[in-house]
Amino acid sequence: MQFTINNTPVEVLDGETILEAAQRMGCEIPSLCYAKGAKHKSSCMVCAVKNEVNGQIIPSCTTRPEEGMKITTDSEEVLLARTLSLELLLSDHRADCEAPCSMVCPAGLDVERMIGYYDAGQYAQARALVVGAFSLPVVACDTCKAPCEKACRRGMVDKAVSIRAIIKEVAAMSGLPAPDQEVRQSERGKKLFQSQLGRLTEKERKRLQETVISASRCLHCACAGRVDCKLRLYATDASIKRPRYSASSALPAMCKVHATGRLWFEQAKCIRCGLCVYNSENGFTFKDRGFGMQVVLPEENRSHVCEELAALCPTGALYLVYS
Ligand code: SF4
Ligand code: SF4
Ligand code: SF4
Ligand code: FES
Repeated sequence: MQFTINNTPVEVLDGETILEAAQRMGCEIPSLCYAKGAKHKSSCMVCAVKNEVNGQIIPSCTTRPEEGMKITTDSEEVLLARTLSLELLLSDHRADCEAPCSMVCPAGLDVERMIGYYDAGQYAQARALVVGAFSLPVVACDTCKAPCEKACRRGMVDKAVSIRAIIKEVAAMSGLPAPDQEVRQSERGKKLFQSQLGRLTEKERKRLQETVISASRCLHCACAGRVDCKLRLYATDASIKRPRYSASSALPAMCKVHATGRLWFEQAKCIRCGLCVYNSENGFTFKDRGFGMQVVLPEENRSHVCEELAALCPTGALYLVYS
């Protein structure tokens, strides 16, 4: 049996889907709810292709090739269908890819990471970042108008983090041991798609105020899964600057839930692809139906999930935290 992909005849292998056949011939099709070798069901439509024979746009990750099919993977129409799917997913997505404070620092300091070290008592690492960004660290921010503090998300909750004071305090520290590893500013991904947290609800503000009580009060806004987030990667490829639809999700923003071991879960970044549900027996599960459907991890199911699920998740909703 033969069919074509972009006018090239393709021999069908047993059990293969259109997406897998395309990959075999070197044609990359994006996918979010599909992961090689994992149980999945199509839901995201990011892998859309067109069957020119009947004019249908179909999910390539679950559709098996049929004799005579003529599949197009790269037409304007197909790319538009994928972009619309991405925009719909992003309309439900309330999170910051990068920390706003780090994005706006004119000196390029990775503010959020520096504060992360500060909160963890890793002052040598924090100071290494400060020293790497400023030639005169102790007076570095004295003349700066502090766009970091204006952009600070904590300002939505109560009062912005005193970033300049922390930088000054860290810069003035002396007698610290050398950092145990090389500390460099992170690649902040300014050219990549930036998901941005919208307004916080009263309930969210209250929760964050009551639960984030570290020395700095920093919310650590940067997404822990941003380096390998496929949603962000595809949004960048599709030149999406910001979601077309305003955030409609009722999921709690910045709610970090410990799952097991080093595994953490953030519901507001979940696109409900189901990979963690289908690949954890009695672990993650769907709650409710339709537009309000959520992925949840009931307390009694925690012992059924494992850290490997982080690698399956196409977004930063499931991630590992290394101390
Ligand atoms: S809460 Fe922390 S990470 Fe977020 S913007 Fe403020 S200083 Fe940066
Ligand atoms: S899950 Fe992806 S798109 Fe969402 S905030 Fe994280 S990096 Fe950005
Ligand atoms: S947590 Fe990740 S893997 Fe699970 S449904 Fe959400 S996006 Fe998919
Ligand atoms: S990857 Fe095919 S529908 Fe999501």
